[in-house]
Amino acid sequence: MRFSNSHLAEKSHHDHHLQRERWAWFGPLLRSFLGITAIVSFSFFFFFSSLTPPNPFLVLRPKLLGLQSVHDPIASPPKEKRRCNLFKGNWVKDVKRAAMYTNWSCPTIPESKNCFKQGRKDMDFVNWRWKPDECELPRFDSMAFLHLLRGKKLAFIGDSVARNHMESLLCILSQVETPEDVYKDSEDRFRRWYFPKSEVTLMMLWTKFLVAGEERVVNGTGTGVFDLQFDKLDDGWTRHLPDIDYAVFSNGHWFFRVMYLHEGTNITNCVYCSDPNVTNHDPDFALKMAFRAAFKYVNDCKSCGKLVTFVRTFSPSHFENGVWNTGGYCNRTGPSSAKDINLESFDWKMREVQIEEIEKVKREGETRRFEVIDVTMAMMMRADGHPGEFWGNKWMKGYNDCVHWCLPGPIDAWNDFLMALITKDS
Ligand SMILES: *[C@@H]1O[C@H](CO)[C@@H](O)[C@H](O)[C@H]1NC(C)=O
Ligand SMILES: *[C@@H]1O[C@H](CO)[C@@H](O)[C@H](O)[C@H]1NC(C)=O
Ligand SMILES: *[C@@H]1O[C@H](CO)[C@@H](O)[C@H](O)[C@H]1NC(C)=O
Ligand SMILES: *[C@@H]1O[C@H](CO)[C@@H](O)[C@H](O)[C@H]1NC(C)=O
Ligand SMILES: *[C@@H]1O[C@H](CO)[C@@H](O)[C@H](O)[C@H]1NC(C)=O
Repeated sequence: MRFSNSHLAEKSHHDHHLQRERWAWFGPLLRSFLGITAIVSFSFFFFFSSLTPPNPFLVLRPKLLGLQSVHDPIASPPKEKRRCNLFKGNWVKDVKRAAMYTNWSCPTIPESKNCFKQGRKDMDFVNWRWKPDECELPRFDSMAFLHLLRGKKLAFIGDSVARNHMESLLCILSQVETPEDVYKDSEDRFRRWYFPKSEVTLMMLWTKFLVAGEERVVNGTGTGVFDLQFDKLDDGWTRHLPDIDYAVFSNGHWFFRVMYLHEGTNITNCVYCSDPNVTNHDPDFALKMAFRAAFKYVNDCKSCGKLVTFVRTFSPSHFENGVWNTGGYCNRTGPSSAKDINLESFDWKMREVQIEEIEKVKREGETRRFEVIDVTMAMMMRADGHPGEFWGNKWMKGYNDCVHWCLPGPIDAWNDFLMALITKDS
């Protein structure tokens, strides 16, 4: 059984997605594994950082990793393990390892992601952990994470799935320290949480396209047609960038729309249009151009000295037997395996362009660290991880959310990946 949708299915789904986001789609927004040796390494870290008040983490890091290499299984695995691909593997059943939080222990789960509260009965989908083929993915360690990020700002830059990721991290971290809700804009798209003891900030910087993009409005009504400007980034995130230490970029779900792609004053390309003078493309073309523009901006940003950049790859949706408005649903209760996923799918194509663009930055000379949180393959196996009908929307009964992810749920593994990358030798 293939889970992936055709482009058009995605397109109409995502037109709908737009409407749902207007309906305040967002809603309001584990313990330790690293062991004693890692704690020792982390205390070395604090020792050194306390000697150097401005704490230039990136400069200190190599020294620390030298120390860690003797002790720390994450930062410096044995040589033969170093090449382990964390993102290639399978989900294995692990009932002993409970979810890192519940809907009781995490009060910030948005209503639309609180699947158990909304009536989901099967609970087995939380009892799986991601197992890379050639190594183990260490479990997220909240204490270590908050220590490592002391005084830092971590921003999620992207759409409502980026927000979903931040909400997962917020729940995980809130099990060891209560965050303060310090900022929310009128549409609840930009959000900031602050952990006062560890002085860690989580931010959501909402952007549909990463680049500047506006919907064409006729007589006060949105037309569903967008104009994207590839020589102009969305300043909703760029103006915060110099202030951020870690940025997790993602996007994709807004690109399945009719879009005119501007370069300067010319429109030479579009997505899903049929204009005679304009070359028509699939959504991955626009996604590629958007990531290229964003990475170029990040790489060239002179005032972003301390920034470490992650790209979280495309998160697949899973409508079966229809699309969002034709009764498509996602009611599976367990994952599929690696051999069942389809790497010819458009989801995979969306991931490919993101990987290509990050490789392009690396090839052409990265001025700062770029890392990939390559979730696509793992999530292609998790048709069971979406809210489905259990997203609690009273106005749209009969429609299923097979795009976002339940909390708790398989999306929590994205933070295991994030932690592994933040702590790895680079
Ligand atoms: C948690 O989920 C249960 C169902 O598993 C539900 O009855 C309860 O209302 C939820 N609690 C909260 C605080 O969301
Ligand atoms: C916009 O409104 C004007 C005046 O009410 C009307 O003449 C025109 O047809 C409308 N355009 C569209 C595309 O609906
Ligand atoms: C726009 O089109 C003109 C004429 O075809 C061309 O000379 C110019 O380079 C184009 N500008 C951009 C930014 O592509
Ligand atoms: C498209 O091309 C034709 C012929 O080259 C030209 O007459 C027309 O103005 C162009 N239309 C647009 C929208 O650029
Ligand atoms: C999923 O939903 C479909 C359509 O409502 C139904 O036929 C099927 O039995 C359901 N599967 C499960 C596992 O609940």
